[in-house]
Amino acid sequence: MPMLKIFVGTVYGGALDVAEQVAPLFEQAGYEVSIFDQPTLDDLIGSPTDLALFCTSTTGSGDYPGNLVAFVRELEAKSPGLVGLKYGLIAMGDSSYVDSFCGAGRSLDEVLQGQGAERLGERLEVDAMETFMADDAALPWVDDWIESQQLKVA
Ligand SMILES: Cc1cc2nc3c(=O)[nH]c(=O)nc-3n(C[C@H](O)[C@H](O)[C@H](O)COP(=O)(O)O)c2cc1C
Repeated sequence: MPMLKIFVGTVYGGALDVAEQVAPLFEQAGYEVSIFDQPTLDDLIGSPTDLALFCTSTTGSGDYPGNLVAFVRELEAKSPGLVGLKYGLIAMGDSSYVDSFCGAGRSLDEVLQGQGAERLGERLEVDAMETFMADDAALPWVDDWIESQQLKVA
């Protein structure tokens, strides 16, 4: 069974909740799913990753949530190269932070692509000003992502 890994960046648990809500959709599509809420680089590259989903909120002024900082630092420091990695990205933020809306998700997207990883489809940006429950946006997006990118394996 192919492995889908979900990497979570969260302060208050919303992004982890989204990861847990969308996981069954991938299981139904034929994947084994692992969720990493204290991710390390080894979680990504130390074992096969057939598909990755990054799900992160933003804190501070466009900053990564604390639980994701070590992962991104390690990725930038070791620069392992991620050619062949296919991923999706759900960024959670709040548009009242006008200058740093979804800053962490946008930065992470750049870092991943800088390492040669390939994002499948567009990034989802969930705005807490518009969407009270992020799941309401994330679940249909994942459904559509699996369909449009032909990710179903079962
Ligand atoms: C102290 C603080 C700082 C924040 N900074 C930003 C920001 O710079 N940009 C943004 O888009 N959202 C920002 N947010 C909004 C959160 O990213 C958003 O509420 C998100 O849904 C929280 O998800 P979480 O529960 O996974 O941490 C901030 C929220 C707080 C409480």
